[in-house]
Amino acid sequence: MTTIIYKKWKSLFSLLLISIFIISGCKVDDHDYPSSRITISFNNDWMFMEGDHEGAQARRFNDRSWRALNVPHDWSIEGEFDQNNPTGRGGGYLPNGIGWYRKSFDIPSAFEGRRVFVHFDGLMANSDVYINGEHLGHRPYGYVSMEYELTDYLRYGRSNTIAVRLDNSKQPASRWYTGAGIYRNVRLIVKNDVYIDNWGTFFSTPEVSEESATVRVLTTLKNSSDRIQQVHLNTLIHNPSGELVSEKGTAFDLAAGETMDIEHFIEVRDPQLWSLDSPQLYTGVSRVTIDNELQDDLVTNFGIRSFHFESATGFYLNDENIRIKGVCLHHDAGAVGAAVPLAIWEERLNQLQSIGINAIRLSHNPFAPEFLELCDRMGFIVMNESFDTWRARKNHGDYGYQLHFDEWWEEDTRSIVLRDRNHPSIFMFSIGNEIRDNLDNEQGFETFRMQYDLIHKLDGTRPVTMGLFRPNQANVYQNGFAEMMDIVGQNYREEELLQASIDNPHWKVIGTENGHTRQAYLIWRDNPAIAGHFLWTGFDYLGEADWPEVSHDFGLFDRAGFTKPRTYERESWWSDKPMIRIFRREQHLGEGGLVDDWTPTDFDTYDEAHIEIYTNCDEVELIFNGESQGIRKRPADHSPIRYRLTFQPGSIKAIGRIDGKDVAIHEMQTAMPPSNIALSASKNTLKNDWDDVAIVRVMLTDENGAHSPNFDRPLTFNVSGNGELIAVDNGQRDSHEPFKTNVRRTSRGQAIAIVRANADVGQILVSVSGEGLEESSIEININQ
Ligand code: GAL
Repeated sequence: MTTIIYKKWKSLFSLLLISIFIISGCKVDDHDYPSSRITISFNNDWMFMEGDHEGAQARRFNDRSWRALNVPHDWSIEGEFDQNNPTGRGGGYLPNGIGWYRKSFDIPSAFEGRRVFVHFDGLMANSDVYINGEHLGHRPYGYVSMEYELTDYLRYGRSNTIAVRLDNSKQPASRWYTGAGIYRNVRLIVKNDVYIDNWGTFFSTPEVSEESATVRVLTTLKNSSDRIQQVHLNTLIHNPSGELVSEKGTAFDLAAGETMDIEHFIEVRDPQLWSLDSPQLYTGVSRVTIDNELQDDLVTNFGIRSFHFESATGFYLNDENIRIKGVCLHHDAGAVGAAVPLAIWEERLNQLQSIGINAIRLSHNPFAPEFLELCDRMGFIVMNESFDTWRARKNHGDYGYQLHFDEWWEEDTRSIVLRDRNHPSIFMFSIGNEIRDNLDNEQGFETFRMQYDLIHKLDGTRPVTMGLFRPNQANVYQNGFAEMMDIVGQNYREEELLQASIDNPHWKVIGTENGHTRQAYLIWRDNPAIAGHFLWTGFDYLGEADWPEVSHDFGLFDRAGFTKPRTYERESWWSDKPMIRIFRREQHLGEGGLVDDWTPTDFDTYDEAHIEIYTNCDEVELIFNGESQGIRKRPADHSPIRYRLTFQPGSIKAIGRIDGKDVAIHEMQTAMPPSNIALSASKNTLKNDWDDVAIVRVMLTDENGAHSPNFDRPLTFNVSGNGELIAVDNGQRDSHEPFKTNVRRTSRGQAIAIVRANADVGQILVSVSGEGLEESSIEININQ
């Protein structure tokens, strides 16, 4: 039986028949399919097997013993950490290798005579895709989306098999964790002979003012029939509330086999501009008709906004000067690996936004399209990056992209730009991170120019940069290389970039990757010519770690999303909301790291407490067991406010004041050993959807509810009702406990569990227990 879900994109577009179907592996009856484009989720009912399997591309290959699963799927994250795994420090010591996926599906005979495509948003890596035994293509790069046409190979009204071989056996292939598998969405797209090409719409806004905007729409149409067609293309623009505000139509002839770009300029009066505070999205609807019959229709979300850079003052969005407060992110999200449910990204972006971050650098490769849609909706600006290497290799990346650059850079760059150019969030393309090719010779210049020119040809609305590596040593500030860049991007060495911008006042400059130090922050703060910084990184990520550690720790947040001292330090520098947070040096006399608790591991030896308070308030008053320790002003260099106290158990409270008013408060209590488990969830309602998950956060507390950080122990998670446990974590970098299980030790009294619904209605109950602790549970509702 075929399940068909007509999910209307938005109710107001019901007439457009933008439909998503699911075709199961079982028999298909012919239905009344729309005559125009049909988009079918192809995520369900795959068979998977690790290892290489001769003949597995054939339709009749017996895969009954394989594992049945749905994608997105990352098989690497399911494995065990092992120091001997060949992914090594780059891949977080997780297993890799070759893996096969197969999906058998019936194709309705109603599709005969139409054009059928399969679309993958990411295959990690070195993929070979087959339909009914025929090879459709090979693609080394695991981060790009790709489409193959199936039309001529399908058995209409009968069963077909698509097979995907992924080869991650040559290691080390990456400096960070890549994952392995069909780790992003797959779709089947059915079109007619005359159709809008893959990624064939481009909405840009060449003129924007408060009163009016000009939207330029470039639509690439194809006539794959064997005769000339008289085609009509209509572009409709709906405002953020869904009202039709403008439209344009063009009639033209399309010769047999011809591909043509049609350009529309459409005026929108009183536009609601896309901005960081109010990320308004317009919707463009492209309709292709022949003799008034709909042939194809496509919805493209876009934003009406302008931006530019100025050498002296940085970045402007809609003519408003905005300091870029960015973070770099890798594409994994810890416990779920590379197959990341969107709700996890949403939670992570919320966490970043809540401390003042307004920009993301996709390091060092393109992300899933849904991630970009999230940035569009949430109001982030995004730097989209293509490669970590051109031709020269880097350490721990022997089998990296440099092996494929010459053959694939053009196709990969094209895919990235065409797919992503409608996102209002994207404000810059980066063509490389710390490229180690020689940039002091003609080949280096030429390699830059060819990528630069292609991006400008396909887009033309966004500047091109790259994250330069030690520019003075590479000579790129002297030899004319940096002059070619629209924006001069440089990693770290903030003084060097500042000096370059002083020496070359016409340059527009940005820190493409930066450290967390106060010294770097002050350069950012005091020099508006530097448009912004991208901190390395927003969240800890898997890989780039030396055993026994398996993840990198430069994040503002850890791998499980827990805060660190630098989370609050950064918030005190970059957030506009009043905040305050007390830390103390972990050991007596100011030794050790910073912790935000008032519970030393040993009360007897901890005597002199060194306190550091992060705040963006003018002044702080510290109150210790009810007694004021005095009022201190925030130093001009934004260093923490410091106090020294003789430790006593009890309560410590900091009050932040602006203009004499109490605006922020943080209080900590000395905790006893834990007796309770406090639970909170990132969401208390879930949809039955792969992308929707809740992060249940666990904190061990004493009988008064104070966070008890010093008595870690394993916890058991039980999920009952209509949900399932996806993964557990505690963020600890040297833990080798698996993620896909129901037991996790706490780290500083904390852990998380990720939970998903598996029914359309009902409840999910998450219960957590541990020795000597009162069992605790939390309920999550399901609501479609
Ligand atoms: C940078 C590099 C990043 C990451 C980082 C580690 O130089 O661009 O990808 O390796 O160092 O701290």
